[in-house]
Amino acid sequence: MAERTPLVIDTDPGIDDALAILLALASPEVDLRLVCTVHGNVEVAQATDNALRVLHLAGRSDVPVAAGARDSLVYRQPERAGHVHGAAGLGGVQLPASPATVDPRPAVVALAELLTAAQTPVTVAAIGPWTNIALLLATYPEAADRIGRLVLMGGSAGRGGNVTAAAEFNVWADPEAAQRVLGSAVPTVLVGLDVTVPTVLDADGIARFAAAGRVGETAAAVLRQYVDHARTQYGTRGVVLHDALALTEAIVPGTLGTVRRDVVVDTTLGAGRGQTLVDRRRVSDSPTAVDVAETVDSAAAVEFLVGRLAALSR
Ligand code: RIB
Ligand code: CA
Repeated sequence: MAERTPLVIDTDPGIDDALAILLALASPEVDLRLVCTVHGNVEVAQATDNALRVLHLAGRSDVPVAAGARDSLVYRQPERAGHVHGAAGLGGVQLPASPATVDPRPAVVALAELLTAAQTPVTVAAIGPWTNIALLLATYPEAADRIGRLVLMGGSAGRGGNVTAAAEFNVWADPEAAQRVLGSAVPTVLVGLDVTVPTVLDADGIARFAAAGRVGETAAAVLRQYVDHARTQYGTRGVVLHDALALTEAIVPGTLGTVRRDVVVDTTLGAGRGQTLVDRRRVSDSPTAVDVAETVDSAAAVEFLVGRLAALSR
């Protein structure tokens, strides 16, 4: 077995975040060493409790959880996403409390210390607003330089937004942080709506891992509200697990077809705030270019997720 890649997940659980964490725990290619929480779908205190409970559900309360930013860098996040993820963030499902307690260090400190001590490059998957990552870059740039791959869920190259006509939620929640992160020289993959929205997990896929055992059954229960939301908001039979696709790319580099692009974020206060402006006129050779995910084999990605979640449940 090849050496496992050290992995950190920065997250705002959140239903699709929860599935992404479970996917990482089900994947022998990676070694989840730290979960950092951030404001986003819910308040960071709730996100932190949810992360502890999801890890405990999978028998992994050994993985440390460190709480991060309570809000955006400059302008307060306008609203949470309770209408999508449920007021407590896990679709109305109360998971058993974890015996573990939150790491006493702030997330940025825990992340910087892990990166500094790591003997091999660390993959960081940021699947909530990127406030913690921006703070890491500004506070501990030497540690940030030790990130092997930064896989970001967020933005949109050509599909518009999901929280406004222009903006995807994670970028919209903290556009200034997004600009800071996308302007760094850290090797970065941007997994946006262009590849997540076509990748739909349907009821048959959910039923497969739900039937596999306790973890899968609980994950299916957490998803139920998300399925209802997708049916009413998008008229789709399935759910778009944005964060799970980003983790799939983190776990298996190259899952998604990417092109190096220059990307900037609209940080104005107008109607376009939070839009990621991806320059698709050319392939960029800039050191701050981003590997933008532009193609996906959605059926293969869904099968990967379902198979891994089913295996975790046995
Ligand atoms: O736009 C999708 C993103 O916003 C996902 O990370 C989801 O969890 C929400 O945070
Ligand atoms: Ca998320």
